[in-house]
Amino acid sequence: MRFFCRVLCFSVFLSLPALAELAKPTGLISEKAMVVSARREASQIGIDILKRGGTAFDAMIATEVALAVAYPSAGNISGGGFAVYRKANGETGALDYREKAPIAAHRDMYLDEQGKVIAGLSRLGAKSVGVPGTIAGIFAMHKKLGTLPMKELLQPAIDLANSGVLVTPYFKHSLERVRSSIEKVSGTDTLLTKEYEVGDKVVFSALADTLSRIAKNGRDEFYKGKTAKMMVEFLQSRGGYITLEDLEKYQAVWRKPVTYQYKNLTLTSMSPPSSGGVTIAQILGMIEPYNIGQFEHNSMPMISLLVEAERRAYADRNYYLGDPDFVDMPLQKLMDKAYLAKRMKTFSYDKATPSSEVARGNVQVYESMETTHYSIVDQFGNAVAVTTTLNASYGSKLFSKKLGFLFNNQMDDFSAKPGEPNMYGLVGGEANSIDAEKRMLSSMSPTIVEKDGKLSMVVGTPGGSTIITSVTQAILNVYEFGMSMQTAVDKPRFHHQWLPDLVLMEQKGFDDGLLKQLRAKGWNAKKGQLPVIGKVDAILVLPDGSLEGGADYRGDDSAVGW
Ligand code: DON
Repeated sequence: MRFFCRVLCFSVFLSLPALAELAKPTGLISEKAMVVSARREASQIGIDILKRGGTAFDAMIATEVALAVAYPSAGNISGGGFAVYRKANGETGALDYREKAPIAAHRDMYLDEQGKVIAGLSRLGAKSVGVPGTIAGIFAMHKKLGTLPMKELLQPAIDLANSGVLVTPYFKHSLERVRSSIEKVSGTDTLLTKEYEVGDKVVFSALADTLSRIAKNGRDEFYKGKTAKMMVEFLQSRGGYITLEDLEKYQAVWRKPVTYQYKNLTLTSMSPPSSGGVTIAQILGMIEPYNIGQFEHNSMPMISLLVEAERRAYADRNYYLGDPDFVDMPLQKLMDKAYLAKRMKTFSYDKATPSSEVARGNVQVYESMETTHYSIVDQFGNAVAVTTTLNASYGSKLFSKKLGFLFNNQMDDFSAKPGEPNMYGLVGGEANSIDAEKRMLSSMSPTIVEKDGKLSMVVGTPGGSTIITSVTQAILNVYEFGMSMQTAVDKPRFHHQWLPDLVLMEQKGFDDGLLKQLRAKGWNAKKGQLPVIGKVDAILVLPDGSLEGGADYRGDDSAVGW
């Protein structure tokens, strides 16, 4: 029997079309180590930690906190995130520091007396804030894998906050876009509502003080100490739900990541409460038999194949996935190749399958641009992929002047009412309904790819519901379409998430003729209101062991190497 399986499995493996040869690099190349993040300052801080003898895990902590200063639209100490790592010895793991619903939260907390969703309640202001996980996350990482003292890892961000963050055109525009919302929620005289010119520096003195207290007193400062009390007082004065008990009870959780085979690649990505790993695995599993690399990149057949896999995968995501501490999920079955092949039985290159005809699969037993992802490979061969967020751009828009930071609006990632779309148009189900102390379902997909058993790629992106499909395209661009890491990141992207039944395309890079062709066959293709889909930051290990950075041109993203 075992022999039979070996022969069969071997022949199936042999019959799988090979992946493309790796292309000549076009991004930054470095020999020893690399950090790619949303701001040059944060990438540089990560690299400096490595140069001092730190590991990728030390650099993760320093970069995470540096982004809270240098990239306040998404970098944070008051939001949450996920880290997926692979040690030089091949061991993998995943850290969940996702926000939780407060103890006072309940299923109908964002509904009016008629059971209708109250517009904005889960998106703006204190009522939208989930119990923050980031500080617990970095201390959990430090406890398990850190090597340098925590104070040393936090100091560069404190110094940056005191010396000031350069206002780039991107930063200026992002502040302009949200100024009126921040003013509405936080008043007109906050650090983030001032008018800045490109080249100015924003000095985050109160944030520097908060970080200094954390550096001095440790994790408890944020969850039990002066900072905790200041947060609770501030949030409650604004009608928020978070109590000291919520903060005291918060724990980051080590999870088993999702590991999945696509041809001779092994992907390790985030498991629930993120839908990222499972949904990427489903999409790749559905397209695997069709040899997508045979098609021209971003051509009709390539787009229709990927869109139909995405449609089916998101239908499952929205029904089945939620917080593993609250819902049972048939994860292995959802990723089973036979099940995925069955899901694609109705697929045709010639005609779109309307989403109204695609329900969740039958297994027994889902626009804004501000999350942030960074990728790190160190000089020892350790790798870490981290995606962290306040949810919307500048989160709940609620800024505490005394604490110096903004709060998340992660509560909107729950299904405020099962069947109703959230901010990203994701129509969630019962599995993602609100409950006290439950984690809201995420799409964040920090991912590590091994090729032939060796570290090959570290990748991830912001983009709400489009995260999953952007990461999938970056991976396919390299391994199926033979692109360098930088080119793979720069290529225009498209997205489908089952509902709404829409193929969202980036504004640049797709010609109107292609959109017409797609529409003629039933694919409702439209260019998005926002010009870009995702901001992918990735690192590719080249055949000679050097590293190529892919820093997304869509933002201030920057690769720094050593
Ligand atoms: O966890 C999630 O899926 C979302 N809160 C991520 C938000 C995001 O990516 C925002 N924008 N790019």
